[in-house]
Amino acid sequence: MQQNRPEFLMCSPEHYGIRYVINPWMKLSQPSDPQRSCTQWNALHEILQELAGTIHVIAPASGLPDMVFTANAGLPLGERLYLSRFRHEQRQPESRHFRRWFEAQGFDMVEFPGDVYFEGAGDALFLGSTLFAGYRYRSDIRAHTLIAERQGIQVLSLELADRRFYHLDTCFAPLNSESALYYPKAFDPYARQVIEANVEDPIAVPAEEALRFVCNAVVIGRDVVIHRDCPRTRKALDARGYTVHETDLSEFIKAGGSAKCLTLQIR
Ligand code: ARG
Repeated sequence: MQQNRPEFLMCSPEHYGIRYVINPWMKLSQPSDPQRSCTQWNALHEILQELAGTIHVIAPASGLPDMVFTANAGLPLGERLYLSRFRHEQRQPESRHFRRWFEAQGFDMVEFPGDVYFEGAGDALFLGSTLFAGYRYRSDIRAHTLIAERQGIQVLSLELADRRFYHLDTCFAPLNSESALYYPKAFDPYARQVIEANVEDPIAVPAEEALRFVCNAVVIGRDVVIHRDCPRTRKALDARGYTVHETDLSEFIKAGGSAKCLTLQIR
């Protein structure tokens, strides 16, 4: 492992597919192409391998097509994992696999009470030392309180307001401790105010690029990895000195995910 380069967890896509519908992007009539999914996943893996330290890969499990979206495994904080409790029963069995993997790596598990849903880093993103956390469609606000108390950190809870942007990481992407990409209309008006009051340089992305999941970006230092064809956001990032890496993730967008959801930063 190299110093100061983040480690990521990914899950190989052999069992990925559109097998049920739990968000507005998923349509049984629009299946993903297995071969193209593998090619796109491998290309992302390759880019990250160049930019990051270690990329760990967890083995996929048959019957769990969304396990490829490792952002939802949990929220790793130091050597502790806040293990996800998935809202939809289709994804609940993933937790057993993620738990086993993280325990084998020496992580301590924190589990939420049975009636508190939390979908991990998909709904919880640090900007500086503040955790911005989304709730409503997947995670519960009570999960945020538990994390804030246990960690002794500031958590700003943001209410999501558009089902197409059901996880915070579909509409909000911290770039550094001062700036973040966000799609204003994905948030309820108060959440929008919270973002605008607490992020020095909030960069609003246009609707058509938000719908190409431009906010589902992997940010590694000054490098930003996103799905292709988001010229306006690209320009805003270029102007701030970021290097943008575009890669085709169309097969995963069919399930409602893009670059960031396919990864989980650990440690
Ligand atoms: N089909 C998956 C779901 O609905 C996609 C998850 C995308 N993950 C994310 N962090 N946005 O749960």
